[in-house]
Amino acid sequence: MKKFNSLLHDEEYQKYLSRNNLNEETRIFCKHGLEHFLDVARIAYIINLEENLGYSKEIIYVTSLLHDIGKFLQYEEKIPHEISSWNLSEKLLDKYDFTFEEIELIKEGIIGHRQKESKNFAKLLYKADKLSRLCFTCPAEKKCNWEFEKKNFYINY
Ligand SMILES: [Fe+2]
Ligand SMILES: [Fe+2]
Repeated sequence: MKKFNSLLHDEEYQKYLSRNNLNEETRIFCKHGLEHFLDVARIAYIINLEENLGYSKEIIYVTSLLHDIGKFLQYEEKIPHEISSWNLSEKLLDKYDFTFEEIELIKEGIIGHRQKESKNFAKLLYKADKLSRLCFTCPAEKKCNWEFEKKNFYINY
């Protein structure tokens, strides 16, 4: 998990994370900070083990860490956050020693994490992303515009 931890402590990464946090200070809906990223990572990794999907733990964690990192650009510049997250991630990943295949997989996961129709690795991210949300205890659930089927009312992971 060396590369994951380097990324976690990367100054630029931390700067983006603070911008997400700043933009969501008064947000009543789901937030997009480190807690969410680690929830997604852990759930995706459990599913990966249970279903023998065979993805590397580090790539699951790295993708989860990055999948919403550009959320602040959705607030500030109206860029869909799977796009802004990938644009920021591409530059961050460049600093560390990822292979071409790993980068392609991470890209697939980030870009596809909002699409119900996604397949394979992106589907894993999509599922873990939704399952990480505690809609059953959220005071803003009624006001949230997520389709009912996306909302999570049960704990499985
Ligand atoms: Fe997202
Ligand atoms: Fe997310």
